Amino acid sequence: MLFDSHAHLDDEKFDIDRETVIEALKGEGLSYVVNIGADMESSRKCVELAKKYDFIYAAVGVHPHEAAQMTDADLAELEELSKHEKVVAIGEIGLDYHYDDTDEEAQKLWFKKQLALAQKLNLPFIVHDRDAHADTLEIIKEVGYFNGVMHCFSGSAQMAADVVKMGMYVSLAGTVTFKNAPKAQAVASSVPLDKLLIETDCPYLTPEPFRGKRNNPSNVKCTAMKISELRGISYEELAKITLENAKKFYNI
Ligand code: NI
Repeated sequence: MLFDSHAHLDDEKFDIDRETVIEALKGEGLSYVVNIGADMESSRKCVELAKKYDFIYAAVGVHPHEAAQMTDADLAELEELSKHEKVVAIGEIGLDYHYDDTDEEAQKLWFKKQLALAQKLNLPFIVHDRDAHADTLEIIKEVGYFNGVMHCFSGSAQMAADVVKMGMYVSLAGTVTFKNAPKAQAVASSVPLDKLLIETDCPYLTPEPFRGKRNNPSNVKCTAMKISELRGISYEELAKITLENAKKFYNI
């Protein structure tokens, strides 16, 4: 019984065998997958995938890398897409300052507008924050809507505690299984269990022992296993808690 709270099964890396991958998931213990939009086209594809498979749900939104191209017509289309009953969140949205040529002002503008959309629709939101911790939290506080998750959390244990205090969730990906990941492991060991989600972010961030291969939702078990070891609880208990948390967060 596992819940992959963040996947990109619409990604072109699955074009050759998407159906086969998805159909194998139930046999591998996956109860739910939320497939996350990254731009307008993938948001539309997420809704189509969710219509096709009963255990797949969708989030719609535009990633900070694509924010500079976003328009108000796109925002209106996201609102329209969100009316489908299997669209459970707005995301992924946020800030990514990793590359030097990025338009930070455009990212901030469209992060705020999409956050406000989530608030208006009373939907949870999924945050992508890379190298932009301070601005990300500042904007969320400015908008004043906290029904969100920090996806593939890359901050410190202290920042995770601050995020939880704001009322938000923290989601850990396969990076927590890497040998050299003391920060993610410190977060995994300390974050309150009722605020923890797990994810693959597939096809990216493949956990150990499959690093180097294409990632897929069934590998969320590796992340669950690692966190259960760090917490000193059983794998089954960790899987059950994170599944219940994700169902509650996404209102499924
Ligand atoms: Ni993602």
